[in-house]
Amino acid sequence: MSKTAKLELESKSLTLPVVVGSEGEHGIDISTLRQQTGYITLDDGYGNTGSCSSKITFIDGDKGILQYRGYPIEELALKSTFVETAYLLIYGELPTVAQLNHFSNLLTENEMLHENMKRHFESFPPSAHPMAILSSMINATSCYHPRLMEGYKAENFTLQAARLISKVRTIAAYSYRQARGFPIIYPKTTYKYTANFLHMLFSQPYRDYELKPEVVRALDLIFLLHADHEQNCSTSTVRMIASSQANLFACAAGGVCALWGPLHGGANQAVIEMLEDIHKSGDDGSRFIAAAKDKTSGKRLMGFGHRVYKNYDPRAKIIKEQCDKLLSVLHINDPLLDIAKHLEEAALRDSYFVERKLYPNVDFYSGIIMRAIGIPPEMFTVIFAIGRMPGWIANYKEIAETQGSRIYRPRQIYTGPTIRHFVPLEQRTQKA
Ligand code: CMC
Repeated sequence: MSKTAKLELESKSLTLPVVVGSEGEHGIDISTLRQQTGYITLDDGYGNTGSCSSKITFIDGDKGILQYRGYPIEELALKSTFVETAYLLIYGELPTVAQLNHFSNLLTENEMLHENMKRHFESFPPSAHPMAILSSMINATSCYHPRLMEGYKAENFTLQAARLISKVRTIAAYSYRQARGFPIIYPKTTYKYTANFLHMLFSQPYRDYELKPEVVRALDLIFLLHADHEQNCSTSTVRMIASSQANLFACAAGGVCALWGPLHGGANQAVIEMLEDIHKSGDDGSRFIAAAKDKTSGKRLMGFGHRVYKNYDPRAKIIKEQCDKLLSVLHINDPLLDIAKHLEEAALRDSYFVERKLYPNVDFYSGIIMRAIGIPPEMFTVIFAIGRMPGWIANYKEIAETQGSRIYRPRQIYTGPTIRHFVPLEQRTQKA
């Protein structure tokens, strides 16, 4: 027998259906609540609100479980690549050899930007944040592909998706080169996705960047680990925009803006800046931990805490291991890694963090890997955005393909002034 929930409201008794997910999660379906009672639910910050049903990603935050389309993140991290995982997220199944080759070839065929776009890049000041450039240029790119404006079409969706994943990497590399005053480096068709990105970032016209397999693998892993994370702030933004039937590139540009904030994707940049400040001040982390616990200091331990994970973020575990491995292969002794480890140990012993179940999240160690590769902090969130693209695309597709899906339009409880009438300017008196 299917479960239901009973709600007593004033003199009414309501029976609401309970929806059960494939991993046993339960949700009360309140979609008829307002119609039946005039009431809505109120959930500041959506901590208890399921905004949709989705088949893409599963998280159990209490157990520290993350699965893409049913596959544990640990297995994908060990055995897959970013491009293969992107395919899995978007299409729901691991690709065959032929499907993967086709998808990879599409990425290669779409790696160039229209030459006129160089002028768009030149118009940004060198101080422009690469996330601002990324968001603007994703929308600018869509202007060169007018068929995008037709909205979701199953017959050309794969091309649009591959175009977005591929071009976002080229845009990101160009924005870095532009900000540094370096000449733009074109992609090379012979390189795979992540190697090509490193080439566009770091080669010079007179000298190719030396691609080290460990570095390529570490960055590919970072992309893979960021590829999706169910209904986080940016993905919900993408779904919100997609629900209005805006085109895929417009949705992705909106996702980039949402991701930029320091409480979300911007945290990876904020972590390195925090570690650098701690290092410069000669603190071993203890003073900073004290400040992070003090609500009046305005400080938080960046890279710690998560809305869903109340246990160690499984991505952080993988990234921490990768961080140790890469720094040892590259013979780098980064004092920021020592500070990060010290902060983690201290926080995990401290009752403030223990009681609130605050653990390191994906951003805590990723910046140290990127720093070791030579990627500057202002590019960290861009790297997150490149990685998150397949997840956004998968969510866009899910919305577009759901029969009868409706525009997202939350309600509110209004707490402003009650009705009052317009006073002409000359009759208004100054309020204290
Ligand atoms: N340092 C110190 N205190 C914290 C921290 C932190 N990093 N995170 C949460 N708290 C405290 C918070 O002050 C509150 O305390 P109290 O109950 O006494 O008022 C309690 O823990 C619960 O915090 P919250 O802000 O209600 O939790 P939230 O679910 O709204 O926020 C979060 C989640 C990730 C925004 C938050 O933990 C945070 O700001 N972390 C630092 C930024 C960060 O690392 N963000 C990256 C998130 S992972 C990547 C991604 O998916 O975006």
